[in-house]
Amino acid sequence: NEQQARALVEARIAVIPDFPEPGVQFRDLTPVFADGPAFHALAEALTAPFAGRFDYLAGVEARGFLLAGAASALCGAGLLPVRKAGKLPRAVLTEHYSLEYGTAALEVHEGELPPGSRVLIVDDVLATGGTVGAAARLVERAGWHVAGISVAIELPELGGRARLGDRYEIYSLLQY
Ligand code: PRP
Repeated sequence: NEQQARALVEARIAVIPDFPEPGVQFRDLTPVFADGPAFHALAEALTAPFAGRFDYLAGVEARGFLLAGAASALCGAGLLPVRKAGKLPRAVLTEHYSLEYGTAALEVHEGELPPGSRVLIVDDVLATGGTVGAAARLVERAGWHVAGISVAIELPELGGRARLGDRYEIYSLLQY
């Protein structure tokens, strides 16, 4: 259940001071991925709150791919890869979003899912919300419905929920 998943994941998250820059405490999920039971519990926990309310998972490149892929295999739902710009070979929709320095862009193949599909967006971290916000705009522009946003870690001080929480249901297993 959720409490067990939280304990398993929290025990494995590595905290790295001053990475990638001084003053930032980086929370690294790679030890969670390396721990089979913790990874399994995390992947299950990300979809449980939305059970019966989504048809597909969307994973955001790159770390979101790992979580959405695992969760997709566990729950049996198909996966929509939300990729960094320039990677997808067919006709795409593109959304730009802000980073700390500059901008980036995410893309999906148009027409990849049936019209009206309910899509649960999965990523590792919700910080400013720029990344999953762009993913949500892509889902909507493509003619699908955002079932929710689910992340392993939320950093509430960075304002992602404040920016997106009115429009989308957001779940996070852990908050720092
Ligand atoms: C990180 C993280 C989230 C995003 C969260 O991705 O994996 O996708 O930042 O930040 P935000 O809420 O402020 O947008 P990053 O861009 O570092 O890409 P990566 O997963 O490919 O390393």
